[in-house]
Amino acid sequence: MLMGKMDNIKIAPSILSADFWKLGQEIAEVEDAGADMLHIDVMDGHFVPNITMGPPIVNSIKKKARIPLDVHLMIENPEKYITDFVDAGSDILTVHVETCSHLEGVVSSIKRLGVKGGVVLNPATPLIFLDHILEQVDMVLLMSVNPGFGGQQFLPSVLPKIEKLREKIDNAGLNTDIQVDGGINPSNCRSVVEAGANVLVAGSSVFHSTNYKETIAELRSKK
Ligand code: DX5
Ligand code: ZN
Repeated sequence: MLMGKMDNIKIAPSILSADFWKLGQEIAEVEDAGADMLHIDVMDGHFVPNITMGPPIVNSIKKKARIPLDVHLMIENPEKYITDFVDAGSDILTVHVETCSHLEGVVSSIKRLGVKGGVVLNPATPLIFLDHILEQVDMVLLMSVNPGFGGQQFLPSVLPKIEKLREKIDNAGLNTDIQVDGGINPSNCRSVVEAGANVLVAGSSVFHSTNYKETIAELRSKK
């Protein structure tokens, strides 16, 4: 049975799969279609092979966006850029545990700047990395693809990991969001939610669909 948080599934379209020529229009359309937040993928060509966008783009989006900006940092030394991304208008900043030698310090800096802070685990990174940080984060993002590109296939090995994390969070009496990112579409979203996730990132399945509203409703639906 789905209860509590899982009754309120949030959909975060990843603008990486949007048409950048008309990014403003694409964002307005997913907002009108019911998106709960905008997922912004920041890649540096070091931690991941791809290079995407930085603070100036977040800043431009912030001027018009009507929903929160969920900024996923796939960069080395994220501590160097946290202030820039907060100043640009991020509402939630997530950092990969694989990139932080002083994870607790990085999460504290994010929260001190007044925004929500989250941590991200790659598919092969075990949950044990959350052991001394879980109580301090607003959200945990579990990757369901290896980060770097949109349009990859969902890795079902994340499902038992989501279940275990949901159990840990519930047992600790926490209210932490569980976000899942990579290859989510209307056919597999239900398994992700049933495992215990409550925030779904979706790039290509939303932006490559012909009807954003229908797709977002399907992603949110429990049937
Ligand atoms: C992958 C990114 C994802 C990606 C999701 O490294 O973190 O957010 O854009 O895109 P889809 O939904 O197409 O896998
Ligand atoms: Zn992402």
